[in-house]
Amino acid sequence: DWTMAGYREQAIQQIRDQVGDKQVICALSGGVDSSVTAILINEAIGDQLTCVFVDHGLLRKDEAIEVTRMFRENYNLNLIAADESEMFLGALEGVTDPEVKRKTIGKLFIDVFDKYAKEIDGAEFLAQGTLYPDVIESVSFSGGPSVTIKSHHNVGGLPEKMGLKLVEPLRELFKDEVRALGRELGLPEQFIRRHPFPGPGLAIRCPGEVTREKLDILRNADAVYIDQIRKHGLYDEIWQAFVAILPVRTVGVMGDGRTYDFACALRAVTSVDGMTADYYPYTHEFLGETATRIINEVPGINRVTYDITSKPPGTIEWE
Ligand code: XMP
Repeated sequence: DWTMAGYREQAIQQIRDQVGDKQVICALSGGVDSSVTAILINEAIGDQLTCVFVDHGLLRKDEAIEVTRMFRENYNLNLIAADESEMFLGALEGVTDPEVKRKTIGKLFIDVFDKYAKEIDGAEFLAQGTLYPDVIESVSFSGGPSVTIKSHHNVGGLPEKMGLKLVEPLRELFKDEVRALGRELGLPEQFIRRHPFPGPGLAIRCPGEVTREKLDILRNADAVYIDQIRKHGLYDEIWQAFVAILPVRTVGVMGDGRTYDFACALRAVTSVDGMTADYYPYTHEFLGETATRIINEVPGINRVTYDITSKPPGTIEWE
């Protein structure tokens, strides 16, 4: 009968058969899919795998440090941590259109990854955390809908461009099975249960121009918000929660003084697959306490709103 331990052994054997003595590269984001893919392949072929973690400057507070530290402490894996934030943020200067943002980030990501991959002698394979639903979706969508709501950021264009073959050890699994496999492989629970995070990162939670100032404020507000959610034991009930910083300053009063700072919006949704979503019904107490904490603890924000739009008609992200 079918067990995760059995799947692990079988997947490892398949990876060895497919790859032989060739080199494999993997774009590691710290999300559960790419993490499990990397750990599994590392277990199968060890030194023949190199992972590249790209910091595009649009990550959450301490995320680059936490992800690289977790891998360095728990797994003996070749990991290149590439800080390319200057380049990404430079390219985003003056960009306000959501699709231009997404395309700018997506294209740079491929360029950066390509650059690191070329440094790895004889890389013939690209590892990807493709899941079973992605496989079905790409089949049923071919020749399908012509309306693109948002251009998705992933490494989809990479294999053709770089002439690489794909290794996709999660192709038969659903998300909950990937999580179970992650547990089997010793991935810390915090990484297994992490809310989804989009490839373009904080850029699409920062409507209008993305600036370092706004990103720093956003990171701090988001950290306080997620801390509140964890303290109230709500993290695992929510599909995804984050702060968006609005491109508008509003007037406030603090102590004896007038403030003129940014407004932000809290987002939290429940969902099964991200295709549809409902806003999360927080209590007024939770919302009030969170707004107070953010305004007191995050310089640069003096107004907090709660986004109560469901999907459809809204999308989960703001852009
Ligand atoms: P939307 O905003 O379209 O998001 O309702 C649905 C889910 O997809 C995530 N998302 C992305 N994930 N690359 C990703 O890997 C992207 O470009 C991207 N855009 C949105 C979003 O966070 C939500 O979970």
